[in-house]
Amino acid sequence: MNIFRAAIVVLSVFWAMNAQAAADANAGKEKAGVCAGCHGTDGNSANPVWRKRAGQHADYLAKQLADFKSSKRNDPIMVGQSAALSDADMANLGAFFASQKTSAGSADKEKVALGEKIYRGGNSASGVAACIGCHGPTGAGNPMAKFPALSSQHAAYTEKTLKDFRSGARANDAGKMMRNIAAKMTDEEIAAVASYIQGLH
Ligand code: HEC
Ligand code: HEC
Repeated sequence: MNIFRAAIVVLSVFWAMNAQAAADANAGKEKAGVCAGCHGTDGNSANPVWRKRAGQHADYLAKQLADFKSSKRNDPIMVGQSAALSDADMANLGAFFASQKTSAGSADKEKVALGEKIYRGGNSASGVAACIGCHGPTGAGNPMAKFPALSSQHAAYTEKTLKDFRSGARANDAGKMMRNIAAKMTDEEIAAVASYIQGLH
């Protein structure tokens, strides 16, 4: 009898875990109402400092929200925005924004040559790794490897976040992957690659 009861308990735990694992984009859409003021209703923010959320990998989005909530990643606005979100909310929000299409942007003609050089080949003299190695030829990233999508992102956001990695203000990258790269980049290289990424899709 006890074994039978224990089996039921174990089974119901599995059922509960399965229910949680299946993220619900519709529930995420409802939660996303409060995000719209800054990130846009479909995650394509109009204001360039508010990161476009559309088309990003669901797990990457959920990780960023969890990092803001635990203050592993600091931003006065987002730490507040994520405080009341549960793990399920974060997974649902990730699923919703991942299902939206990113709006295309364009690169600044003056900066595109240097930006493309860095993105595709890095800078061997200073040891900057080529972005393409992890973020892919079109900036789609690689969800299995947890490399986020960058395509069409606002240049101003990319520039800010690369400078935050460089100064250590943003330090939530596993194995310091991005901090080590940004540390070797000049302001000019950061601005150029950010502009190139805005036109990449
Ligand atoms: C008042 C404006 C505002 C609101 C409302 C807001 N955000 Fe943000 N969000 C920001 C800003 C600013 C940043 C950039 C933070 C930084 O520079 O590190 C950001 C960053 C993010 C990031 C990380 C971006 C990345 O690519 O790593 C995620 C994910 C995010 N927001 C999701 C949400 C969600 C989900 C909601 C709603 C629950 C929301 N935000 C509500 C302003 C806002
Ligand atoms: C070795 C793999 C690797 C290489 C090479 C790499 N990145 Fe990354 N990048 C990552 C990972 C992993 C993250 C996610 C960090 C996190 O979890 O917060 C990231 C995050 C980013 C972000 C933040 C995205 C967002 O939405 O906030 C930007 C911007 C970025 N990388 C730009 C670049 C640029 C530009 C280069 C080339 C100069 C580059 N990366 C090279 C692995 C890499």
